[in-house]
Amino acid sequence: MIGEANAGDDPADGWFPESVASGYDAPGGANAPEVVTPAVDVLEDLADGPVLEFAVGTGRIAVPLAARGVPVSGIELSRAMTRRLAGKPGGDAVEVTIGDMTKTRVPGRFSLVYLVFNTIGNVTTQDGQVDVFRNAAAHLRPGGLFLVEVGLPGLRRLPPGQDVVPFAMAPGADGGGYVGFDQYDVVTQEFTSNHITVSPEGKGRFHRIPFRYAWPAEMDLMARIAGMRLKHRWADWDRSSFTAESTKHVSIWEVGR
Ligand SMILES: C[S@@+](CC[C@H](N)C(=O)[O-])C[C@H]1O[C@@H](n2cnc3c(N)ncnc32)[C@H](O)[C@@H]1O
Repeated sequence: MIGEANAGDDPADGWFPESVASGYDAPGGANAPEVVTPAVDVLEDLADGPVLEFAVGTGRIAVPLAARGVPVSGIELSRAMTRRLAGKPGGDAVEVTIGDMTKTRVPGRFSLVYLVFNTIGNVTTQDGQVDVFRNAAAHLRPGGLFLVEVGLPGLRRLPPGQDVVPFAMAPGADGGGYVGFDQYDVVTQEFTSNHITVSPEGKGRFHRIPFRYAWPAEMDLMARIAGMRLKHRWADWDRSSFTAESTKHVSIWEVGR
């Protein structure tokens, strides 16, 4: 992160310390019912017994899924995010293990492991992402499913010689504003999401988060390394077809029986 360190943030919480967790559940955006409900509908439909969310966060998806009667466990790196989950109505239904989804194991075999909201990209090496697939497979019972929701990198919007793709430009009426852009390294497949917020008084904050992108075909190979095969690839939670114009995918791999 570039900018002032926030007092009270624990470095062990990674990119989601208290200063981020405290605003994560703000209404609207990814927390809007029209975003959350379609995801929970699909996950409830796929669940055939206990499920495990990698990087469960504040329980944005896990808590409403558990409220439908699906037994949900989670793995999460950030204690700050986990505290938010535990403090929510219904949060006590989701048992969270603090740890790294590349290697942390929880007891039990699951019908479904899921990893949503672009979070596979928070693991910034290919080896680490393969370990996520392996760890998912290790938690699945025979025939179990691993689901990933992730945006596609904006490579088709990168002309030669340019490495930046803007995704937000929102000047405020009061003189402040917000600018967001991704910066890609097409050699390493690493990229950063950059968020610049300027207050009406002209005070700015530059927040920069590292990611690694993988094209869907690379994820299919990761899945095969982990003993899984592609079962579905949708453009979104509405199960629409994945096409050349898709900007994200919801992919589901099945572990061997
Ligand atoms: C964008 S949030 C998504 C949270 C939740 N899944 C949701 O959909 O709202 C990303 C979460 O992934 C967690 N995270 C990032 N890397 C992780 C890792 N290697 N192992 C476990 N959790 C991780 C972060 O702490 C953060 O809570």
